[in-house]
Amino acid sequence: MTLSQRKILVTSALPYANGPIHLGHMLEYIQTDIWSRYQKLRGHECYYICADDAHGTPIMLKAQQLGIAPEEMIAQVQKEHQQDFADFNVNFDNFHSTHSPENRELASSIYLKLRDGGYIKSKTISQLFDPEKSMFLPDRFVKGTCPKCKSEDQYGDNCDNCGATYSPTDLIDPKSAVSGATPIMKDSEHFFFDLPAFEGMLGEWLSSGALQPEIANKLREWFDQGLQQWDISRDAPYFGFEIPDQPGKFFYVWLDAPIGYMGSFKNLCDKRGDINFDEFWNVDSTAEVYHFIGKDIVNFHGLFWPAMLHGANYRQPTSVFAHGYVTVNGAKMSKSKGTFIKARTYLDNLDPEYLRYYYAAKLSSRIDDLDLNLEDFAQRVNSDLVGKLVNLASRTAGFISKRFDGKLAKIEDNSLAETFLAKQDEIAEFYESREYGKAMREIMALADIANGFVADQAPWQLIKQEDKQQQAHQVCSIALNLFRILVTYLKPVLPRLSQDVEAFLQLELTWNNLAMDMAGHEIVQFKALMQRVDLDKVTAMVNDSKDNLQPNQAPAKASKKEAKVADKPQSTGNPLVDDPISETIAFDDFAKLDLRIALIAKAEHVPEANKLLKLQLDLGGETKQVFAGIKSAYAPEDLEGKLTVMVANLAPRKMRFGMSEGMVLAAGPGGKDLWILEPHEGAQPGMRVK
Ligand code: 2FM
Ligand code: ZN
Repeated sequence: MTLSQRKILVTSALPYANGPIHLGHMLEYIQTDIWSRYQKLRGHECYYICADDAHGTPIMLKAQQLGIAPEEMIAQVQKEHQQDFADFNVNFDNFHSTHSPENRELASSIYLKLRDGGYIKSKTISQLFDPEKSMFLPDRFVKGTCPKCKSEDQYGDNCDNCGATYSPTDLIDPKSAVSGATPIMKDSEHFFFDLPAFEGMLGEWLSSGALQPEIANKLREWFDQGLQQWDISRDAPYFGFEIPDQPGKFFYVWLDAPIGYMGSFKNLCDKRGDINFDEFWNVDSTAEVYHFIGKDIVNFHGLFWPAMLHGANYRQPTSVFAHGYVTVNGAKMSKSKGTFIKARTYLDNLDPEYLRYYYAAKLSSRIDDLDLNLEDFAQRVNSDLVGKLVNLASRTAGFISKRFDGKLAKIEDNSLAETFLAKQDEIAEFYESREYGKAMREIMALADIANGFVADQAPWQLIKQEDKQQQAHQVCSIALNLFRILVTYLKPVLPRLSQDVEAFLQLELTWNNLAMDMAGHEIVQFKALMQRVDLDKVTAMVNDSKDNLQPNQAPAKASKKEAKVADKPQSTGNPLVDDPISETIAFDDFAKLDLRIALIAKAEHVPEANKLLKLQLDLGGETKQVFAGIKSAYAPEDLEGKLTVMVANLAPRKMRFGMSEGMVLAAGPGGKDLWILEPHEGAQPGMRVK
């Protein structure tokens, strides 16, 4: 299917430049990155823009605390943010800062247009003021006793204990969180954006279909309560842009933050020279503009921002896509309670592609929260990506390299590929509509079909038969072609794996080439594409996150499941301490053991046995049946076609399910943490291990 090329600008919310990126943030950047990569894969002109949100009182105070200029702090944080994003393979076309010349110019010009249009009003208001620091205090910087439940040490906007919302002046015994001084009331002139003047335009916008229904309903509630003037100015001292005609007054951070989307894009246009800013932002633009955001900031993006754009004669966003929050093991992530995992802590322990896949598998177009259940995470990644996807190539590629000069056969029966290709529009539509979970399910259902085909055909058996060589070539070529289609479908989600597969298959994975003919195509030696999730690493990540807490933050109580994952090994981390080396034996004792290389010809579940898999082990001439207690760590299809090491001379044991004629060798404490031995390439079934 050919599509006409669209011009698309995509943004994620701008992270504040005073804190690290955590896995809650990563949901949004991964969601947006998948969408933008998908659009690019379809050949559209798509730009993914972001920036650090660098202004405001918290940033000014944090820099003061650190004893450095805010400019220095935001530069340092921006570097860290960009590194985190790059390491998660988030592919921004531009990452800038709201504290930039482009943004200053755009914020000023938009303000002046709004002022000249009569949309800026001024009013004197009375606010809490810190007499020691000579500054007005935002609500979060006043603390005191809750007027309702009398709980002490509550913020000026709402009570953590009883949930009451109030104004900071209602607090009993209020104190400045900056200096500890008792604040006083002080008057100051503020500037307001006249939101009510946009009632007609916003009414139309809310019913235009541009917003998700849940979001449109929520915004309509506010709308129906009556739109209020929006306070867009703050008094010095403030880290931000001074309002052009008002010395000592600054734009409130939320005024210039969304303008930062434009500022970053302007910066990109100026750097590149081949993109036209106006084509994307002019009032009559035919380009598409999408903002991915969290559900907590829909008022800014769904009301204030469209009204500002309209008032300054710019186009409206095509759509705003909100998502829910991330919970970890069923518990809310909370900065103040310290239950968040930093992006860097994750990256220090685990492969970013795991999280990209897990989030994709659980994302929909709705705003439901998403639970990162660490056990489910490990299980799903291992089962889908390692067991189903990578396995398809690892079980077949070796035969192509060794037996068929690395070249694929001309496929005689293309029916499976046709089944796979018939799904492309459905999968495309799932990406387009942000129903990634549905896309992943569809793709994994296809992977199941491919694995079923390989298991039925058992190329590891065919390859041993002189007259079945051609059939083995067909089967492996079909499997690798299906693998190519699957990885193309997954390319927006798994950019690093896709890149490795491109190197292995020696071609570029593109949507337009989905139906390509691989007859005679040469591939290179297969290398492991992805490791199983190591639960010890998951545990280490959870523990490292606890270490990262500020001294005044108590570690949040782990949920039962988290505790299970975190506590599971109960080990010192040193296997030699946990399980010391046994007594010395004589060589003759060792020589009694007959260890052999074995090909796992067949692996299957044993009905009624919770822990066992039934294996048929081919020793190159003789087959032995072994019941192995490895079901908690391996799916049967993970094993078929692989080589392992077995104890071949163990006395047979009669079990409830049949005879067990040996043992396979595995390491690890048990459960999911079990790894069976696999010899280096070249070892042949039946060879003695000595
Ligand atoms: O909520 C936040 O983290 C803000 N820094 C998001 C800003 S998004 C955009 F408007 F700039
Ligand atoms: Zn209270």
